[in-house]
Amino acid sequence: MPHGFTLPDCTAVITGASSGLGAEFARQLAPQGRALLLAARRSDALEEVKMEMLALRPCLAVHCCVCDVASEAGRAHLLETVETLGLKPNLLINNAGMGDYGSFASGDTARLRAQIDINVTALMLLCHAFIPRLQASSEAPAAILNVSSLAGNVPMPDLAVYGATKAFVTSFSEALRIELLDRHIIVTAVCPGPTPTNFGKNARRPDGEDTNRSGQDLLRVPPQFVVGRALRALQQGEACVFPGLGVSLVAPLFRMMPRALLRRVLERRYRKDNS
Ligand SMILES: NC(=O)c1ccc[n+]([C@@H]2O[C@H](COP(=O)([O-])OP(=O)(O)OC[C@H]3O[C@@H](n4cnc5c(N)ncnc54)[C@H](OP(=O)(O)O)[C@@H]3O)[C@@H](O)[C@H]2O)c1
Repeated sequence: MPHGFTLPDCTAVITGASSGLGAEFARQLAPQGRALLLAARRSDALEEVKMEMLALRPCLAVHCCVCDVASEAGRAHLLETVETLGLKPNLLINNAGMGDYGSFASGDTARLRAQIDINVTALMLLCHAFIPRLQASSEAPAAILNVSSLAGNVPMPDLAVYGATKAFVTSFSEALRIELLDRHIIVTAVCPGPTPTNFGKNARRPDGEDTNRSGQDLLRVPPQFVVGRALRALQQGEACVFPGLGVSLVAPLFRMMPRALLRRVLERRYRKDNS
């Protein structure tokens, strides 16, 4: 890949832009972008983010699309909105996602399935739909930024489905990156560790445990840092980025560790946290 992605003047579609990392992507793109299309299900929260962006930079074009990206209809509405507004996106940020914290056996089937629908199916089909719509050339590559997770590197007890969806995101992104090189579309996966957003609150089951586990404090980095590092990775055309010193150190360790040893470590942690 000769160039990285150029942030100034970009037109970005951001899913899950109503809170957490998605809203922070909007915040950090606002000072330099041309247009932002913010997508999520909660219209009031999206409007708030839009107002904040316009206060930051009144000349920025900011649009909202209220949609559920997990549904066919929601994704169709997002694509229609791009067409109707006449947007020419050159950046897709697939950020919408959710977890479900607790044992697989006791999980609610709708929430178990929702993780696959949002984290996997929606992300994959939005990539498919946007590839022909992204404005890309050899001088000015387009980009797809997929929000994965450190959890994709580890088999995660009590987050088993979530971890597996993020393993999909990382693997899919790396393969897609190779396929799209000749189309001048950079694909980057960002794999954050624990980051304070609404993720933990939403992943928690009614009367269930918190997602905050032993060892997490060492890995926690603020959303501002995660997003800044992810956008720098796009500019440098990197394939996969693990924001934060702790996360960037443990990620390769998880990959290199013999699987049996990794399972033993995770089992000890699981027993300690559930005793
Ligand atoms: N926070 C962490 O510790 C952490 C670590 C690693 C990776 N991640 C990943 O980071 C991404 C962003 O999460 P976050 O931490 O910022 O959590 P968050 O604050 O809960 O934000 C999730 C966003 O996704 C949107 N969303 C959820 N389901 C949706 C759907 N069906 N259709 C459209 N939008 C939907 C939510 O908006 P609405 O509710 O308005 O739809 C919200 O804007 C996720 O992919 C998550 O897996 C988070």
